[in-house]
Amino acid sequence: MSISMKSVSAIVAGICLGALAFQAQAADEPTRLRDAAEGLFLIGNAAPTRAFSDLIASDILAQDFNRLTCENEMKFDATEPQEGQFNYRAGDTLVEFAQKYGMKVHGHTFLWHSQTPQWVFQNPNDGRPMREVVLARLENHIRALMTHWKGKIQSWDVCNECFEDDGRPRGFSPWRQNIGDDYMEQAFRIADKVAKELGEEKVLLVYNDFNMYKPGKVQAVVKMVNDFKAKGVRIDAIGMQAHWQSNDDPSIETIEAAFKAYAATGCKIIISEMDINTRNGFRNSGRGLERDDSVQGNADSSADALAKRYGQIFDLFVKYHESIYAVTLWGIGDSWSWLRGGQPLIFDNNLDPKPCYYSVLESLKKGQKALKK
Ligand code: XIL
Repeated sequence: MSISMKSVSAIVAGICLGALAFQAQAADEPTRLRDAAEGLFLIGNAAPTRAFSDLIASDILAQDFNRLTCENEMKFDATEPQEGQFNYRAGDTLVEFAQKYGMKVHGHTFLWHSQTPQWVFQNPNDGRPMREVVLARLENHIRALMTHWKGKIQSWDVCNECFEDDGRPRGFSPWRQNIGDDYMEQAFRIADKVAKELGEEKVLLVYNDFNMYKPGKVQAVVKMVNDFKAKGVRIDAIGMQAHWQSNDDPSIETIEAAFKAYAATGCKIIISEMDINTRNGFRNSGRGLERDDSVQGNADSSADALAKRYGQIFDLFVKYHESIYAVTLWGIGDSWSWLRGGQPLIFDNNLDPKPCYYSVLESLKKGQKALKK
């Protein structure tokens, strides 16, 4: 569905309180992220269900973004809390909103060690080996979700957070324990098989993880992708969560090295869960903010410092736009973030745009202008 920003604005005209806070721009220049990112990559956000009954949050989602991820509502525990009992209501709310405003949807996530109900790993004591039982449960789950949202979801995280930072397989993984070392390969094979059955071959199959800039992890993921490709197992994109720090951690050079390595595999890159911690003494990772006294570089947690950091990172995204499918921010405003007290997002507690909103906008506009030359 193609919908102009003018009509989106008209649809939400009654609720555009948030827009009052946006700075005026020259008439022909894009003033919102969604328009400024056109031609570069998709620009997304993660939303909990309550966002869709919040007028300001919905207005921002519809005007600034063209891709949505459920923050929690498509996870295993939310969609299949009991075996064979599926709950799609919250996911449907997001999908309907996305369709109304011409946005793409990202499905998050099939196989993860977290937010997965206990029953998945319980032995039914029916004589079958647990590998077979858990694989059958995974397949049933993937088939149910892909069928329910057929034609409405453009990319799925098939496996989430399966490596340690040094590239070893994740220590705690009930999936690996039950299925065996080839569990990721099996998950991708199942997702591809189901996609084919449904005529959904275009749906991107993604591996997603945090700390995806760490050399050990980069090596392990690249190796996995190359192994898959050699065996004919489909994998289309690599998701870098991008829970990063406001100091130079990771540095632009480090992120760029990861981009080069991932792009060389032929996979698309997705920046899937971006937020930038400003809280001194805390580290941002796939586990949220964790106390870490060695993190002292966030001393300058000013709005301007964060704006500079967001701008530099988006300049890099723009430079690699041909390899990047989408950039998704993990939450709308700071008070919505899972990183309590980290002021990590581009809208503040009142959902007013912060200086970093404008540095992102400027970076996208520059990138778009360069494309048009
Ligand atoms: C987080 C959500 O934001 C929280 O609301 C929830 O309590 C825990 O999960 N990596 C992921 C995301 O892949 O699903 C996580 O989301 C953040 C880390």
